[in-house]
Amino acid sequence: MAPDAKALKREAARAALQHVEDGMKLGIGTGSTAEEFVRLLAEKVTSGLKIVGVPTSEHTEKLCRELSVPFSTLDEIPQLDLTVDGADEIGPGLALIKGGGGALLREKIVAAASRRMIVIADESKHVESLGRFPLPIEVNPFGLRATRFAIEAAGRRFGLTGELETRMAGTQPFVTDGGHFIVDASFGRIPATRAFADELNAIPGVMEHGLFIGLADLAILAGKDGIRTIDAKS
Ligand code: A5P
Repeated sequence: MAPDAKALKREAARAALQHVEDGMKLGIGTGSTAEEFVRLLAEKVTSGLKIVGVPTSEHTEKLCRELSVPFSTLDEIPQLDLTVDGADEIGPGLALIKGGGGALLREKIVAAASRRMIVIADESKHVESLGRFPLPIEVNPFGLRATRFAIEAAGRRFGLTGELETRMAGTQPFVTDGGHFIVDASFGRIPATRAFADELNAIPGVMEHGLFIGLADLAILAGKDGIRTIDAKS
């Protein structure tokens, strides 16, 4: 990663920290931008901030443990005040594509259990329409080929074609924290995102997809000229 890209992610994370208050129950995202947030959060915790986090992946949980950020689970704390997470694309109405890091199912469960979600990113993630980034779709390993056929058919019904690839980790399929596989769908621009999201959810082998619609309340984008925020309501 270019050093300035890392610095931008850190600035977005720093701005998100201003929304964190003492006593909050926090959903904590996954990915390189969320990692910057965890590192800054850890500094605040060291200087006395009291929060408890719910990590969205085993990776983030490990980071919380290493940095002494208090954490728990949704079973202990089923309702959260705020989730801060990254995204692969941020589109109109703060609809997102997420899952580039393979944590989309837990990320969506945690975001949905939160009163608010703030998405943090460098400004290159802000797009006019979603879909340049291949859409990650988390699927059950059982019946993988049948599920891929069903995803292709759903795409065709929406005029979406393009390669589907089962994500690999070396020679084996990448396995998510939930024991599922990821299919990355290079559909290109996805116009009817909400309807298409519903179509994907109707496929039994699809555990979740990376379209996050109506979940993010605020985007904090860091660019060379500083921080820009976009409110979902604006
Ligand atoms: C993890 O599964 C993803 O949803 C990440 O939030 C997303 O890929 C953004 O990651 P980066 O901050 O590393 O770009």
